[in-house]
Amino acid sequence: MRFKQSVQDVLNKQINAEFWSAYLYLSMSAYLSDQGLNGFANWMRVQYQEEVSHALKIYDYIISRGGRVLLDPIEPVEREWSGIKEIFDSTYEHECKVTDMIYNCYEVAVSEKDHATANMLQWFIDEQAEEEENVLAIIDQLKLIEDNKAALYMLDKELSTRVFVDATKTAN
Ligand code: FEO
Repeated sequence: MRFKQSVQDVLNKQINAEFWSAYLYLSMSAYLSDQGLNGFANWMRVQYQEEVSHALKIYDYIISRGGRVLLDPIEPVEREWSGIKEIFDSTYEHECKVTDMIYNCYEVAVSEKDHATANMLQWFIDEQAEEEENVLAIIDQLKLIEDNKAALYMLDKELSTRVFVDATKTAN
């Protein structure tokens, strides 16, 4: 089946959104390092790597279908936050927006009867549910911690163990 332009357009937009997310999370990682929260900074840096892998998964898919990848400029990202709680609250809000964008890509693919693209996007639908859940778990822990410095130190230590595993390579 021909790779419809409307599907390519929405996927190219998604590549840009994934790279923007990567840049946002790297900016958050830099902020967290500056605050001496190296474990949280590590977690965000892994998040940055995940977003780059998401962008490349769509990039490779477009090429595999004989489509054309068109990279748009990356808009500026925030550099300052009021603290760790605001960072994770905005991460959650941002991931919810990304989920909406993925759903939109899926709907365009289905309306164009492009089942191959819809199938590829199913991986992203599952991934978004997992990402939202992971961020919510950290927000819950931060709520419990409040101003307890020892507990924050322990969580920072725990998040320092996160390593990047390229899940896009083992998926369809
Ligand atoms: Fe690639 Fe966090 O969405």
